[in-house]
Amino acid sequence: MKIAIGSDHGAVALKDEVKKVLAELGAEVSDVGTFGEAAVDYPDVAEKVCAEVTGGAAERGIVLCGTGIGISIAANKIHGIRCALCNDVFSAKMSREHNNANVLAMGGRVLGVGPAREIVKAWLATDFSGDERHNRRIAKITALEN
Ligand code: RB5
Repeated sequence: MKIAIGSDHGAVALKDEVKKVLAELGAEVSDVGTFGEAAVDYPDVAEKVCAEVTGGAAERGIVLCGTGIGISIAANKIHGIRCALCNDVFSAKMSREHNNANVLAMGGRVLGVGPAREIVKAWLATDFSGDERHNRRIAKITALEN
């Protein structure tokens, strides 16, 4: 699976840790940055990651900022993106099973490395249930977008 990943300056260390998990899982990774401590604007990072997802270059995306809040809000403004901010494993699983989330957001100033690793593993391992009721609700989200 190809994963696009990006963070602002608030989560560069977490991005490096998440990339290690992705490598362990055998995922192909496209890292759009940022790569240093200089401040960048999280909407720009969300735009780059989500472009890879909506354009088909990546199957799914992972976006990170200090809290995960700003970058998840930005990602969810992009047509075709269902971004889930997950700070626990249960939410990560549900975001896949029920919401078919195609982008995961996490906060570098919120999560420790251990929980973040488990969240990423659960999110990647969980399939969308495909149930009629969840498809119907996602279709309504898409209708709101349009
Ligand atoms: C950057 O200082 C910080 O605002 C950002 O990383 C994020 O937490 C915003 O939601």
